Amino acid sequence: MNEHETGYFTEESSADIVAGRNAACKDERLKEVMEVVIRHLHAAVKEIKPTQAEWSKAIEFLTATGHKCDRWRQEFILLSDVLGVSMLVDAINAGRPEGASENTVLGPFHIDGAPKYEHGRNICLDRKGEDLVVRGRVLDIDGNPVAGATVDVWQANDEGFYDVQQKDLQPAFNLRGVFTTDEQGGYWFRSVKPKFYSIPHDGPVGKMLDSLGRHPRRPAHLHFIISREGFDTLTTHIFDPDDPYIHSDAVFGVKESLTADFQKIGNPQKAKELDFDGEYWEVEFNFVLAPG
Ligand code: BEZ
Ligand code: FE
Repeated sequence: MNEHETGYFTEESSADIVAGRNAACKDERLKEVMEVVIRHLHAAVKEIKPTQAEWSKAIEFLTATGHKCDRWRQEFILLSDVLGVSMLVDAINAGRPEGASENTVLGPFHIDGAPKYEHGRNICLDRKGEDLVVRGRVLDIDGNPVAGATVDVWQANDEGFYDVQQKDLQPAFNLRGVFTTDEQGGYWFRSVKPKFYSIPHDGPVGKMLDSLGRHPRRPAHLHFIISREGFDTLTTHIFDPDDPYIHSDAVFGVKESLTADFQKIGNPQKAKELDFDGEYWEVEFNFVLAPG
């Protein structure tokens, strides 16, 4: 019998006994992580004092979460998102210098291989929604332009759905595009004003939110991944601060520094130049990359 196999399991000794079993683990990080997980899990169970029926319900929930996952749906990431863990991991690892743009949650709707476009292109392929111009610059921490940066953008449509959620209704790669910044670090494209939407909530995580009296909505936003060799890749959004859900994002992704000023423009001449009918929206947003 090894030393770490001595002692009896009781309510008081439970965490020490279980963590002690890992004494021979050769992976120090794994051992440390499991020690913390066991300690906190046992403390939570002792505080909650679940009945057997309640514990079975918890296991059923986790089982259903696993069963809901496939190539297109990752219910565990959704669980991490709505519990604030995705944003917490992001915050712990942020460590960017003062002035650099902040990251936020990636979400499940980014896809590789979106079309590369010239500046000014309208990424809304079905033209449904309120017209929008998005423009800005990508800068380094000293305010110098970052030319040649890749600006990968994607967003939901005017009804709150990504193209991949409505494969029969929206054209492929609707509201997605990849741009490259010019010599001044500039980028611009045309699109439609995004609206708030619900994260996928037809599974166990949605049911959990409902039971907790929480809504599944995210405030209107555009997603960006901005990358350039020599810089830390930025995965972020810009948000509409006037959105009704700006203070109650289901996944806690909103940061004040990522809210942008969406202005309504009533200028028929400019609208014509942009191939828009009547009033449209304009938003300008600069991104600041930290050195990589
Ligand atoms: C999104 O913004 O696309 C998203 C983020 C987290 C969960 C679901 C969707
Ligand atoms: Fe989104």
